Amino acid sequence: MNRRKFLTILGGGVILAAGAGAYRLGQSPQTAFEPWARAGTAYAEPRRKALSYAILAPNPHNMQPWLVDLSQPGTVILSVDPAKMLPHTDPHNRQITIGLGCFLELMVMAAAQDGYRVGLELFPQGEDAQSLGEKPVAIARFVADKSVQPDPLFVHVMDRRSVKEPYDTSRTVERTKLNTIVAAARDVKTDATSEQDQIAALRNLTTQASTVEMETPRTHKESVDVFRIGAAEIDANPDGIDLSGPMIEALSATGLLTREGSLEPGSTGFEEGRKIIMSQMATSMGFVWLVSPANTRLDQIKAGRDWVRVHLAATGEGISVQPTSQALQEYAEMEPFYNRVHEMLAPQGGTVQMLARLGYHEPVPASPRWPLEAKIVES
Ligand SMILES: Cc1cc2nc3c(=O)[nH]c(=O)nc-3n(C[C@H](O)[C@H](O)[C@H](O)COP(=O)(O)O)c2cc1C
Repeated sequence: MNRRKFLTILGGGVILAAGAGAYRLGQSPQTAFEPWARAGTAYAEPRRKALSYAILAPNPHNMQPWLVDLSQPGTVILSVDPAKMLPHTDPHNRQITIGLGCFLELMVMAAAQDGYRVGLELFPQGEDAQSLGEKPVAIARFVADKSVQPDPLFVHVMDRRSVKEPYDTSRTVERTKLNTIVAAARDVKTDATSEQDQIAALRNLTTQASTVEMETPRTHKESVDVFRIGAAEIDANPDGIDLSGPMIEALSATGLLTREGSLEPGSTGFEEGRKIIMSQMATSMGFVWLVSPANTRLDQIKAGRDWVRVHLAATGEGISVQPTSQALQEYAEMEPFYNRVHEMLAPQGGTVQMLARLGYHEPVPASPRWPLEAKIVES
């Protein structure tokens, strides 16, 4: 944490503490981060060991939409939890599917590390472009294989973070690093920029698209509904958008930060949220994006598999990453920005599946996760 931020938080905390009664400075979640410590260490059985890493995958709004059936030996049947969808910002479950692709890639990587090759059968009962439904997403078969090669990106799994902070505007992202990051993708066309003109255009576009999402009540509410405000809420529901730290505890204890309040433009919660998002977009020092030829479920899974690879490679290069998905979302109010981002980044056609800002920032804490046990439907 930098000094200015620390003083702001402390200052806010002290002022609010006067009226806050028993709010506890330094209160932090107790159990929400345990899955990070248990990854690879708490499980001997190969599928569970690989899955303990897979649940650390990046995924939209940290909904962790995965469910696994382990009832057949050596097999993982992955399906989606219909309660974890984002119908307003992700009406066709495109982003949720990308998150499942990230999950599968980490599972395959972790299995390889442990000497297992994984055969993947995707959408064994067919795919539906409109809705992910409740059919299985993948059947994964684990086979012990001494010749399987570990993936060099695996070493970055524990350090990968979505860094939702302003980035250091005094540091440009080196082209050589962008080349390494882009080269991590295996299937999906991936590009990146740190050119001034393109950064300016994409900062502008992502700012405008974020404003549309915030000012469209139903899409904004979809985020606010999954706010986890303070340590107790985060431990109780270790998913969604986690807001923690002394300032948050204080604002929450005094009633200044509530879900209802954050819905109203002009309220402290709404306007502070807007400032945070604007400061993120305005300090983007580079962008990376993935374009698939079409937009089938398989394209989305491939995009997810490559996305997490790109993110891991950036982690290895010391570059912070935050997906900025608003302009890619498929709802009427966003259409002008969806069209614009496709004109800019996919002029030859195709679907922009991921767009993320890049830059430098010091390490940030991991985001919460449900334990693996909460995601096993049959064992
Ligand atoms: C398909 C997809 C879309 C995402 N879109 C956004 C986004 O628009 N803004 C953002 O801040 N994070 C976005 N994220 C990042 C998630 O919020 C993040 O992965 C999740 O909160 C878990 O945190 P972690 O990546 O640090 O483990 C996206 C991730 C995925 C896979």
